[in-house]
Amino acid sequence: MTTAAARAFPNIALVKYWGKRDEDLILPVAGSLSLTLDAFATTTTVTLTDEGQDSFRLGGDEVAGEAAHRVTRFLDHVRDLAGASAHAVVDSTNEAPTGAGLASSAAGFAALALAASRAYGLKLDAPSLSRLARRGSGSAARSIIPGIAQWHAGHDDASSFAEAVDAPDMRMVIVTVSTAQKAVSSREAMRRTAATSPYYPAWISSTEESLAQMVDACAASDFTRIGEITESHALRMHALIQSCEPPIRYLAPQSIAIFDAVQALRGEGLEAYATADAGPNIAVIVRPEQAEDLRDALAEFGPARLVGPGAGAALLTDAEAARAGLSEAPA
Ligand code: DP6
Repeated sequence: MTTAAARAFPNIALVKYWGKRDEDLILPVAGSLSLTLDAFATTTTVTLTDEGQDSFRLGGDEVAGEAAHRVTRFLDHVRDLAGASAHAVVDSTNEAPTGAGLASSAAGFAALALAASRAYGLKLDAPSLSRLARRGSGSAARSIIPGIAQWHAGHDDASSFAEAVDAPDMRMVIVTVSTAQKAVSSREAMRRTAATSPYYPAWISSTEESLAQMVDACAASDFTRIGEITESHALRMHALIQSCEPPIRYLAPQSIAIFDAVQALRGEGLEAYATADAGPNIAVIVRPEQAEDLRDALAEFGPARLVGPGAGAALLTDAEAARAGLSEAPA
């Protein structure tokens, strides 16, 4: 096959990945665990070409510069695996509104890993796809997997991949606080954290501990414990990031107000727990039966979207890819 289309969803980590022990292989300093969402999909078609270079279109527009280099470097990994040399045309669309801070590199590289590996004739199993997606963006390793995914830190390329974990059913409300582009990328901020934060060694050991506790809480189907770990771990990550030199602060005053509101809601019997990635937007987990109440309660802070656990990366038929609005869906 010389063309293939795939779709993947972003994920929000409940135990965060923050820091690499190998920049080239993207091996993390600790494992992590996330919820793959059922919204904000990225759909990508990869078509092999006789052209002398790769090209990358996002939402119909040709992309150049660092973003395009990152796609080419990723395709180089796929070509290595496949023993191929042909270049490729990559055509992607994001369902998340552009600039809303929700379009994610995790969904993007998970969809690209599946579409590109198929276009180059590879049939990878889920762990191998997860390892491949990891090379594009660490968190993409988890978007290969449906629902709750645990990324095993591993010690080399072969042992660092994500797999599914059983957990109680839950929902998430995502509150968009700002749509502005972040000032410092996660990749750069992770480097600065490792190089300058006095708390970094403690972060690594405490993340391993939080992950072990989280895995136990998932196995016990203990939503309260899952929530407590999620919220305290998120606040620890943001404290760590703020301890860099020069400091980086992703949370806005409105983000903090949402953490406070969620705590107050718990006092009123609406059991929910907040987290945030490298930006000001807040994701709040809740039991399914209280999800709509939570969304209504948080709407005063900004657009609040209720999402659930979603599918792992999946291949699309030509017709599905065309419906996703790809300008060059395979004929
Ligand atoms: C805060 O996966 O985007 O969302 O591997 O450098 O591409 P790179 O980083 P990336 O970082 C995600 C950081 C995070 C936490 C998480 O998703 O676990």
